[in-house]
Amino acid sequence: MAMERTFAIIKPDAVAAGNVGNVVAMIQAGGLGILGMKMIRMTRAQAEGFYAVHRERPFYADLVKFMVSGPVVVLALEGDDAIARWRALMGPTDSTRAGPDTVRGRYGTSIQLNAVHGSDAPATAAVEVPFFFAASELL
Ligand code: RTP
Ligand code: MG
Repeated sequence: MAMERTFAIIKPDAVAAGNVGNVVAMIQAGGLGILGMKMIRMTRAQAEGFYAVHRERPFYADLVKFMVSGPVVVLALEGDDAIARWRALMGPTDSTRAGPDTVRGRYGTSIQLNAVHGSDAPATAAVEVPFFFAASELL
């Protein structure tokens, strides 16, 4: 299996609910390495750019509003098959359909308020990690 990097966000709902530590513990228990981690408040321009792929979707405006509603924690993760492993640990987009062993099953509450983000492919991860991290911030 290939060593990969992936990009994760602990979204405003999970930060506000006090679940940063719980999510980080699940990432580490899942055997994913943390290369970078910081708490930020996304600007509207960052949120719009980050989710530009969803610009035409009906939920885009609400999604941007949600992502700037409070601080988030952004992480760069690394491990064998890290992209798929983090997506599996996150669970499906709709938190109400997510299993009890997934981050979204435990800490998400709806399809929008779903606690975390994860890159969905190597090409996406390659864009998303440098969107929020300078090379010097990845240890
Ligand atoms: P993410 O990009 O955040 O990791 O989530 P994902 O791949 O599982 O889902 P995606 O289809 O990329 O959607 C991005 C985020 O938009 C919100 N969403 N709301 N109201 C809705 O129907 C709806 N659908 C998606 C969620 O916050 C989702 O994670
Ligand atoms: Mg996505």
